Amino acid sequence: MPPASSSTGHANDAMDGERLSNESILSGEWSSNEDILNEYGYDPASMKRRAEKSMARVRELYDEGKPLFTREMIEDTQRQIDEIKSGEPPSMTTLSVIGMDGKRHENLWATIVHDNEVSAETDLLVAYTSDVPVMSFHHIQSLTEPTSDEPEHWPNRLTPITVNSCSRSNPYSEEAKDITAAQVAAGWDSCIEDFSRTETWRMLQAIFNGASAAPRLDIDKIVGFGLGNLTVGSMPHEDPWERTSGMQHALLVSLADLLEKQAGRPVRRIVQEPIYLDTCKEALRARGVEIAEPETGFLLVDERTLVITVSCNVPVRQIVADLARPAGMIWNRVEPEERRFSRGSVIDEDGELIEPYTTDEASSRVRDLVKGYTEHQLPEEDDEWFNDVAVYIRQEMEELV
Ligand SMILES: C[S@@+](CC[C@H](N)C(=O)[O-])C[C@H]1O[C@@H](n2cnc3c(N)ncnc32)[C@H](O)[C@@H]1O
Repeated sequence: MPPASSSTGHANDAMDGERLSNESILSGEWSSNEDILNEYGYDPASMKRRAEKSMARVRELYDEGKPLFTREMIEDTQRQIDEIKSGEPPSMTTLSVIGMDGKRHENLWATIVHDNEVSAETDLLVAYTSDVPVMSFHHIQSLTEPTSDEPEHWPNRLTPITVNSCSRSNPYSEEAKDITAAQVAAGWDSCIEDFSRTETWRMLQAIFNGASAAPRLDIDKIVGFGLGNLTVGSMPHEDPWERTSGMQHALLVSLADLLEKQAGRPVRRIVQEPIYLDTCKEALRARGVEIAEPETGFLLVDERTLVITVSCNVPVRQIVADLARPAGMIWNRVEPEERRFSRGSVIDEDGELIEPYTTDEASSRVRDLVKGYTEHQLPEEDDEWFNDVAVYIRQEMEELV
């Protein structure tokens, strides 16, 4: 599947689609939040000026080399989320997140009550509360260019991480309710079997066995991000692409086995994916795969890590580029040129400006990072599962000269 667009919605990601930003609260989309708008003295013209100023400041800081994402930002934000989760969630509270300028910025967080939602199970109109705070990661493009949000809806862009509300319902619960963990394990076994016969696996074996890459890279863990819902994605389906998640998880464990055999010592297998069900987790743990609760997986990425991600709904590549220089990455191929869109250039059929970037868009920093890596494009015949994905192997200094 190609990288998802940030705004067009994702078949596998109703959960992310449910995310509501504080900006949308301020935009007045949620009539139940008029109080908030008034309290914040909503004035579109002055907010637009603030937005434009902050976009320019972000660009300046970025060009000076300031990171968009730091470990401290993630840890500090997680601490505040954990505090909210540990008690009765407040209906509204103000958090402070660390910005690119190193200063703390206000982050309004509110419990959103959705009225008139239709329950898929009963067809009845229900009201439900979306009260799980989650981190949102904003790529450099969304912080510096006016895209689908009118600038005044997002006046302060200095914070690449914000805390927003997320629905608690897992989009796969209904579809997966009769699938047991044992069935997931069996379905995934057959994906692993199928994966062992792919061109992709042949190529990976050649890369990691070749030129003593593996011992030199000294990989001690593989961390996968957003590999999809394993329960639904490992069941037999008519269309091969429906087993994408099973095949991507198969790649992760097959490669871990290979590296472990080569190194003669353990290679940790870790995955971060908010839409796992208990059945996914059980099958994963039974095969020795650890589950990193969002967003702890990012904190584990270091020089001895191999990162795997395909079309994630967060800008994994931009986060990793700021946090580490991993031993290798298997992720969407990085286009050599920045894709630039001028305002208004991407319009939908209703004439609305839409978000032109993918959720895991590359950036100048991602391009700089991969300059120190050898790129191997995965074979086209396995595009159903690994569309436009490439393997990046870190070159050592002597190889670069
Ligand atoms: C477009 S889907 C891609 C799924 C799969 N990799 C594929 O190629 O079909 C994006 C995935 O990113 C996941 N995701 C969203 N937020 C995430 C986060 N904070 N950490 C890891 N994965 C996340 C979603 O749950 C979803 O499964």
